Amino acid sequence: MSTYHEPVLAEETLALLITDLDGIYVDGTVGGGGHAEKICEHLGPRGHLIGIDADADAIEASRTRLERFGPRVTLMRTNFRHIASELGTRGVKHLAGIVLDLGVSSHQIDEADRGFSFRADGKLDMRMDSRRSVSAYEVINGYSLERLEAILREYGEERAARRIARGLVYARPVATALELNEVVERCVEGRYLTKSLARVYQAIRIEVNGELESLREALDSIPDLLLPGGRCVVIAYHSLEDRIVKEFFRREAADRIPSQSKYIPDLPRLPRLEILTRKPVTAAGQEIARNPRARSAKLRAAERR
Ligand SMILES: C[S@@+](CC[C@H](N)C(=O)[O-])C[C@H]1O[C@@H](n2cnc3c(N)ncnc32)[C@H](O)[C@@H]1O
Repeated sequence: MSTYHEPVLAEETLALLITDLDGIYVDGTVGGGGHAEKICEHLGPRGHLIGIDADADAIEASRTRLERFGPRVTLMRTNFRHIASELGTRGVKHLAGIVLDLGVSSHQIDEADRGFSFRADGKLDMRMDSRRSVSAYEVINGYSLERLEAILREYGEERAARRIARGLVYARPVATALELNEVVERCVEGRYLTKSLARVYQAIRIEVNGELESLREALDSIPDLLLPGGRCVVIAYHSLEDRIVKEFFRREAADRIPSQSKYIPDLPRLPRLEILTRKPVTAAGQEIARNPRARSAKLRAAERR
């Protein structure tokens, strides 16, 4: 089970996250339990970890990996956007810390039939939560040309968005990763192909899973869940997510709300967070050599005031 997913920036996460060895911590993206295991090893006998993941396989994998910690671990299969209500129904109101390690796990990427990777052929699914109704197939084959183009441009930051969207609409039905790759190959120059494929897959995955909205909703609920001095650590793997985290932390750390008009003064507000990482923490060369996923990781942390 240890190869399910190797945790990224694990030592840095522990150092920034844990302030109270007896506290309650949430890992909102428990995945294969890599970060969660390290957190549990670090906590004292009264510390507790709540692991959340939308993916049933991830919950099963972490159940096995974290079994030895017994009742000190609770696992929940849900989207982290529902974190406040899920914790509320279990009577958990105050956390010492929360970590979100965003995106997909190596395990999800490696499962060809889930369609997350352009490097393997499989049917186009890309749902982290198999209970969601819209898969990559519906997005690619059911969305209008304009909507597809907007997704590729916005979520993939792909320059050839219009050409690829047109190619997809023309080639419908597009049912497998190989068929999707062939369309992209016809639309972009060879030297840009790998990057374009990565961007197209990223864009469709973000749409299928509502990733950016989930992140915004989860972040909004975090300050109210944290105890004073409690910490929030977020690891992002692409600039769209990282921007959302950076801007959220900045807004919550500000002591005024900009009025947007030179005639009206800014409104004062009580900052709820203090930013702990002026610049994002990134992985050292050694970690990247061992775990290529770490290459694009950006970790940001903040503390509840
Ligand atoms: C990068 S992996 C986490 C790996 C984990 N930190 C470890 O060390 O094993 C991201 C995990 O978050 C889950 N995930 C992503 N977005 C989610 C969301 N909105 N709600 C719940 N789980 C989510 C994915 O299913 C995946 O298992």
